[in-house]
Amino acid sequence: MNSLVPRVATISAIREETPDVRTFTVQPDTGSLSPYRPGQCAMLSMFGVGEAMISITSTWSPDTPLEFSVKRVGRVTTALHQAEPGHKVGIRGPYGNSFPVEQWMGQSLLFVGGGIGLAPLRSLINHCLARRSEFGRVDIVYGARTPRDLCFRQELFESWPKVDGASVQVTVDAADADWQGPVALVPPFLEQLRPEAAGTIAVTCGPPVMIRYTLEALKRLGFPDDRVFTTLELKMQCGVGKCGRCSIGSKYVCIDGPVFSCAELRQLPAEY
Ligand SMILES: Cc1cc2nc3c(=O)[nH]c(=O)nc-3n(C[C@H](O)[C@H](O)[C@H](O)COP(=O)(O)OP(=O)(O)OC[C@H]3O[C@@H](n4cnc5c(N)ncnc54)[C@H](O)[C@@H]3O)c2cc1C
Ligand code: FES
Repeated sequence: MNSLVPRVATISAIREETPDVRTFTVQPDTGSLSPYRPGQCAMLSMFGVGEAMISITSTWSPDTPLEFSVKRVGRVTTALHQAEPGHKVGIRGPYGNSFPVEQWMGQSLLFVGGGIGLAPLRSLINHCLARRSEFGRVDIVYGARTPRDLCFRQELFESWPKVDGASVQVTVDAADADWQGPVALVPPFLEQLRPEAAGTIAVTCGPPVMIRYTLEALKRLGFPDDRVFTTLELKMQCGVGKCGRCSIGSKYVCIDGPVFSCAELRQLPAEY
């Protein structure tokens, strides 16, 4: 099948994560998306409105429904937020590279997420927790602007902390009257936690400013650049390396990324 032609799919369920983030379960009307890996994304289209590249937040198995968590920011994402279950959408993908999980066997894992950046991390975290015995410690650090902006609460507060050898630390930039937890931005919070760098792979996803300061914090904590991974979210159009919209230097983020090691990022022009 032509990888640029969207399949028609149906939104079968919608879960409200936060006031501006919803998770959509999407079922192609015929066939299924080919097996996808953590870090990959797909182009979702709202007919008559446009397309948006969105990370696949579910973790692939033959029986797992396809899920996307979408923050409402503009035309396409607002139209998606107005859709009800049963609405027809277009979907094409999966696109992009993925986190090199096979190279991390035996290592401890540190996941650092901010806001909607937990969407691509969630696919990766659930993939790694399903293969728990292949890794050392699994530590998850997550922050959002306020308690109302925390995504994936069931996993954050219930299922992930119960996994043997896993920890979850959640912080917010600004508390409300009910919040009992830490109040701090993610990068200084991470430094306070002083995670062990030796034998650990770090992965961070979130808003560009959070990624920038988190990468600096990880460096100060002793994480070498080739053991730190992140994703880039440049604007995209074709998703398959044809239109040039997402180029940085000699790379196309849609096919060479969106996952890059910090060592690879340092080779790219500073514009991203
Ligand atoms: C690889 C990749 C993975 C992504 N994963 C997710 C995800 O899991 N969930 C999610 O909610 N969003 C994700 N995004 C961002 C998403 O693609 C954009 O938010 C979306 O395309 C905006 O479309 P729109 O028509 O609603 O907004 P527009 O009307 O096009 O724009 C509204 C505002 O958003 C800005 N904007 C548009 N596209 C992007 C972009 N790609 N990055 C940053 N700012 C943008 C515009 O400059 C403008 O300020 C991802 C982007 C990429 C490239
Ligand atoms: S989005 Fe067209 S080349 Fe990457």
